[in-house]
Amino acid sequence: MAAEVIYGSELAQSMRDEMKEEVQGLRANGIIPGLTVVLIGEDPASKSYVLGKQRASEYVGVESDLITLPESTTEEELLTLISELNSKESVHGILVQLPLPSHINEQKVIETISPDKDVDGFHPINIGRMMTGKDTFFPCTPYGIIQMLKSKDIEIEGKHAVIIGRSNIVGKPVGQLLLNENATVTYCHSRTNGMEQFIAQADILIVAVGIEHFINGDNIKDGAVVIDVGVNRTKEGKLTGDVEFESAKEKASYITPVPKGVGPMTITMLLHNTIKSAKIHNG
Ligand code: GUN
Repeated sequence: MAAEVIYGSELAQSMRDEMKEEVQGLRANGIIPGLTVVLIGEDPASKSYVLGKQRASEYVGVESDLITLPESTTEEELLTLISELNSKESVHGILVQLPLPSHINEQKVIETISPDKDVDGFHPINIGRMMTGKDTFFPCTPYGIIQMLKSKDIEIEGKHAVIIGRSNIVGKPVGQLLLNENATVTYCHSRTNGMEQFIAQADILIVAVGIEHFINGDNIKDGAVVIDVGVNRTKEGKLTGDVEFESAKEKASYITPVPKGVGPMTITMLLHNTIKSAKIHNG
């Protein structure tokens, strides 16, 4: 079987077009969705992500403010800034770009952002809401993956979803969202014994380890749905995923590419969360 490719780039574009229309309606009623992104330091990958967020915000009509601060910013200064943004009415979403310099406690920062403006969905209150099956701001990459599956009417209920990777940003929450959709979920990670046996059982395989071509077609089940969250650079400087695409495509029923796969959906769901927040704050 040769898999159908799920282009997140196409779904992202159509969702952004819908959002653009929705934002026009909100603006006509005096509601301007506002996102503030805080970037600390000079990390080139972070700068590039932030630029992508700025461009996409502009496209859909979300007012996006970028605050760039030097690497030497203290934790106290950052927490004070977040408190100010928490009480600023025009700000509906606050995103502090991670990773932060090592002298700043990331968890403290996440917990200082008001849960009502936490468009990343990283605050423990929002994670708790997600875990108890409530509606909230869901973490953007996992939420984007669910949208990609739904866009192809891929059945989740009753399926065995195997997640490779257990990060707080992707692995753990995507497993939770799939569980909320009634999948049976297995988490694999660097300490898992006999990972191959789990991979071979996966109806839905989510790979988020950050290792180039960690999975290939030999490992996966015939007809599996393969979602590649990896963003790696080859020696030649090309972007590539955690899955060896060509061999996996021969076995899978659906597969996501890198680039043009999951990546564009992350920013799209960030905009979705910001618009949702603007509507709640003006509800
Ligand atoms: N760094 C890499 N991905 C993300 C993300 O989704 N949100 C934030 N805040 N930082 C990131």
